[in-house]
Parts: sequence; C-alpha cells; structure tokens
Amino acid sequence: MGELKLSKPYLLQAADLTTEDVKLIFDKSDYFLEHYKRGEKFDDLKGVTVAMVFFEPSTRTKLSFDIAAKRLSADTISFQSATSSLTKGESLIDTLHTIEAMGVQMYVVRHGKSGVPQFLQANTSGVILNAGDGKHAHPTQALLDSYTLYRHFGAVKGLKVCIIGDIIHSRVARSDIALLKTLGAEVTLCAPGTLLPRNRNIWDCPIIESLDDAVEWADVMLVLRLQRERMESGILPSITEFSKYYGVKYEHFTRKPELVLMHPGPVNFGVELDYRLSTYPNCLIQTQVTHGVFIRMALLSLLGRDL
Ligand code: CP
Repeated sequence: MGELKLSKPYLLQAADLTTEDVKLIFDKSDYFLEHYKRGEKFDDLKGVTVAMVFFEPSTRTKLSFDIAAKRLSADTISFQSATSSLTKGESLIDTLHTIEAMGVQMYVVRHGKSGVPQFLQANTSGVILNAGDGKHAHPTQALLDSYTLYRHFGAVKGLKVCIIGDIIHSRVARSDIALLKTLGAEVTLCAPGTLLPRNRNIWDCPIIESLDDAVEWADVMLVLRLQRERMESGILPSITEFSKYYGVKYEHFTRKPELVLMHPGPVNFGVELDYRLSTYPNCLIQTQVTHGVFIRMALLSLLGRDL
C-alpha cells in the first residue's frame, strides 16, 4: 500500500484542508520534530528545486520555508521581484514559465493581491504553496497555529479561541477561522467595529465586545497586528485609542494565568500587545515560529514526494 496523500496536490487555502489532511500534516510534523532533535538528516526532496517567490516582505514564512526545504535536501532559489525582468514588463505568467524552464518544481508564493497563487497553480505543472495572498489566505500560518495548540493542549477540538484586533485586513484570521472550525474549536472575534467584516455573521463567529469578556471566555487569545499597510485612512480614531481599548495588557494574563497567548508576528509591541507579555510563561509566540519550520517540512515532503 502506498503512503497516504493530501487531498489536493498543492496548498492554496486552509479551507481546502480536511481533518484527514491535517492529521497527516501534524503526524509528519511530529516525526520531523522528534527526529530532527536526534540529529537525523532527511533526503525527502533530494533532486527537487524549490523557489521562494515573495512579492511582499517576510521574515518568518520565507526563512522557515527556506530552512525546511534545505533540511529536506532540496535546492532552493530566491526570486527577487524588484530586480527581476518583471520590471521590464515581463508578465507574471511568463516569469513563472521562465523559472519552470530552469527545472524548478515547487513554488512558495507570497503576493499582495488575493488569488495570485491560484492563478499560478492553474498555469503550471509544478506545485504552488501559498505563503500569503492579499487578505485572502495564509494556510501555513493557520496550520502552525493549530499545530501549536495541538502540541500544547493535546487536541484542538473544544478549545475556545478568541481572535483579537485587525480582523478585517487579516488573511491569518480568515485561515485560522477556517482551520480551527474544521478541527472543532470554538472561535470568537473581538475588535472595534471598523476592523470587523461589515456582515458580522459572514464567518459564523460570535463577537465579544470587550477584552475583559474575551479573557473570561477564552482558553486562547490569538492577537493580530494592525495592518496599517492595508488600512484606509480614518478607519480608527487613533492608534492610542485602539491600544487603550483593544491592546492586550499584562494584567489580562495575571488575572487568568492558564490563558494562552498567540500572535502570528510580526508584533507591534505597545500597540496590540504589552511588551512584558513576550516573556509570559504561556506566551507561545516563539513556539509558533519554531513549529512553523516543522509544519513547512511536512508540507514540502508530502507535496513534493511524487516530483
Ligand atoms: N506571520 C508571518 O507571515 O510573518 P512574516 O510576514 O514575517 O512571514
């Protein structure tokens, strides 16, 4: 019998993942985490070339995909859009076909416009992994977030997760909501009205009006960055006002020590989060980053095995 496969031969959005897919990815991540600790080497992607194609800035996603691919013995290249022939008028699709002609089989793609990874997947025989597109999706972030909860609590089902902050501009929120619900968590949202979807019921997540009520209700506070680069002016009275009412404070956690804190990063400390929380025992922000490498190793291995 062949090894189990993911239901789709690419990764475009968290909403496509089944519970069986997620179990497979988590089991594979556990395997890599345990075996890497013992100093083992992996050759799952020997002979495969993976391109990092980032049109938006990134530290965590880009570096962890690069590290993950190298740990699996892949060759990696980094495409720099600002110094590429895109600047001479070459189209995105011609750029993809040019890179493809050099023998690249896997593409890790981040783009500011929603839908670019889907468009590229429809025009290549290679494998696209979405590393974040516009406000649409960031599936590997959702996977590493749920994996961090799974490793911390033993299961995701039944957990109460409150997502706090800039929800309307966040591809992380959309992907986390989809995946957490697939895995059976309860998800609520806490944000000022202008940072919530206009149709408040669109994601079927109850709204919690105040941070104090969110602390009372939640097992996990998943805090988001204010995405000022995607924000139209006038959406908030001021950053200070946002911080006063929706910034998560140290006192929220001393009141309920078992509460878990997560943030996808990068964090704007002093805006959405009190800096003192970075060393709080149940702050899992660095653990999320560490788990991101093993989740991405698992995905690259599962999606690259037949290349
Ligand atoms: N969480 C996240 O996507 O971080 P980067 O933008 O640094 O990749």
